[in-house]
Amino acid sequence: MTMNLILMGLPGAGKGTQAETIIKNYGIPHISTGDIFRAAIKNQTEMGIKAKQYIDKGNLVPDDVTCGIVKDRLAQDDTKKGYMLDGFPRTLDQANALQKISSDLDRPLDAVINIDVDPKILIDRLSGRFICKNCGATYHKLYKKPKVDNTCDICGGHEFYQRSDDKPETVKNRLDVNIKMNTPLIDFYKGLDLLYTVDGSQNIDNVTEDIDKILKNL
Ligand code: AP5
Ligand code: MG
Repeated sequence: MTMNLILMGLPGAGKGTQAETIIKNYGIPHISTGDIFRAAIKNQTEMGIKAKQYIDKGNLVPDDVTCGIVKDRLAQDDTKKGYMLDGFPRTLDQANALQKISSDLDRPLDAVINIDVDPKILIDRLSGRFICKNCGATYHKLYKKPKVDNTCDICGGHEFYQRSDDKPETVKNRLDVNIKMNTPLIDFYKGLDLLYTVDGSQNIDNVTEDIDKILKNL
């Protein structure tokens, strides 16, 4: 059976954190539109320069750009065995576009996992996040500290940075923008009978366990 998944949740809900474990356990590619944009910004591509204007303000990148990226990415061969979308779709237009893209490619969705977290705790999650400069691994100053102080668990690197959109002035708008779109998207996937919700306010390992239970029963 295929595993064609969406991991959805507000900024800081834990999509990236949980995706890391899922892709390790199930061997499917992790497709994060946010990661794709950040790579394009780093490489200063035309798309990256355009996307940066929106991301730095905490706004959504326009649907035509985002849908084009996902269409190209899902058409690659490695998604035949399944895929894990993270942070896409975020609007109903994107959700409708994905229905068409995935059906044209004959890679229809199997499940949408919604990591549900009270927005009140998300500011704390986002403002405490830091990332390894060398390998991109994500940490939190309280909830996911490196095993050895100031040393990345994965690559041993010692340099870390904060994402530019995790600054307080951007975080608020980012949350507002995403909260507005969240309920219609949840209803959309409920209507398609694809939605599974996990309590994302638990600790990281418990959320992983709940997601794993859902995936094992698919
Ligand atoms: P993107 O990179 O996707 O950002 P986001 O949706 O705001 O989500 P984050 O990556 O911030 O959070 P996450 O859920 O991955 O949390 P994480 O696991 O890191 O998108 C960035 C921007 O790109 C958007 O704002 C937009 O401009 C643009 N964009 C992207 N996709 C788009 C689209 N489809 N359409 C239009 N524009 C788009 O965890 C957060 C922190 O909490 C970490 O420090 C982690 O260690 C910690 N943590 C995780 N889980 C737990 C837990 N259970 N308990 C305690 N701490 C935890
Ligand atoms: Mg993320």
